[in-house]
Amino acid sequence: MNALYSLVFVFALVLIPLIGVGAAKLNVFFGICIPSTALLVFLAGFVCKIYGWAKRPVPFRIPTTGGQQEPYDTTLFTQNKWDNPSTGPQTVVRMLLEVLCFRSLFRNTAVKLDVKNNVVAYASAKWLWLFAILFHYSFFIIVARHMRLFLAKVPMPLEWLEFGDGIMQIGIPRMYMSDVLILVGLLFLLGRRLVDPKIRYISLVNDYFPLFLIIGIALSGVYMRYFAKVDVIAIKDMVVSLTQLKFKVPAGIDNSFYVHLFLVSTLLFYFPFSKLMHLGGVFLSPTRNLPNDTRIRHHENPWNDKSIMPHSYAAYEDDFRAPMFEAGLPLEKLPEGAEEEAKA
Ligand code: HEM
Repeated sequence: MNALYSLVFVFALVLIPLIGVGAAKLNVFFGICIPSTALLVFLAGFVCKIYGWAKRPVPFRIPTTGGQQEPYDTTLFTQNKWDNPSTGPQTVVRMLLEVLCFRSLFRNTAVKLDVKNNVVAYASAKWLWLFAILFHYSFFIIVARHMRLFLAKVPMPLEWLEFGDGIMQIGIPRMYMSDVLILVGLLFLLGRRLVDPKIRYISLVNDYFPLFLIIGIALSGVYMRYFAKVDVIAIKDMVVSLTQLKFKVPAGIDNSFYVHLFLVSTLLFYFPFSKLMHLGGVFLSPTRNLPNDTRIRHHENPWNDKSIMPHSYAAYEDDFRAPMFEAGLPLEKLPEGAEEEAKA
């Protein structure tokens, strides 16, 4: 049901600009007003969210680790520096591996009940990692390529990217690999939620909606490029003049462009308030961005009430040694005379 609601909602979103531009001729509203408001909401929302997270105090080290921590005796154990970093530079490498290679997802495992042998089996599951990488990198490449619509002069690296992405040279206009891969990645991520009953059970509208929305954006883009063959020069002229705060919407742009732009605007409106904020949040996650050095450095909680003195275990044992001994609890130091008594 959640998937269906999201799909219907995205269909409704497609209809709005089709009616708004096709019937009501609200080209300026859909071409300029909505996208610029969406951009402002996105920027303000993103900054507010990041600021809110950044000012939260993190008094303790709480990294989630997945390997040997820095040992006291390096001859006995070898530290797993990238999964259990203990210094700043090691943590930077861990973060880079996480952000660029999705390292924690690479370690993903699937649990299965082996009914025949009556055992629970854990197996490595790399599909999620693979399709997540495909989707995210394709998205990034597509957005980077779109910069040619916003910049009067296209920088050289963008031209190389565009050349590399279209190197397969299939059809006219040349097919971009990222267009195919983003759809493959998205369809896998959606299929995984629909097919696996466990994941379907925990999936909410908030999980399906962004997937359908981004599929809608990609499909409308593909339609514009390969089928409607929209007037990219006119669109670029409009977008570049917008960046110079000149508002003009040329006539004759295919309606599919307004659908594309409206879906992108919806994504921008939605982004700061959704789980998609993991884009910024990953950098502020204390389970990832802190070195695990609690056994090396003493971290004092800055909120500790200074009038309350710390009470060490040794002092605690001093206070309660006799009753603890009587109760038979293990002690670091026996009460006076207890050793002689035990020997006698
Ligand atoms: C989240 C952001 C966006 C995504 C994921 C996206 C996705 C896509 C995709 C997959 C295509 C197919 C062709 C290609 O890959 O170049 C496309 C084409 C296109 N997009 Fe977007 N788009 C986004 C934002 C925008 C924005 C803000 C604009 C408008 C200014 C825009 C205008 C266009 C145009 C004009 C085309 C046709 C390009 C051509 O014919 O070569 N897109 N988009």
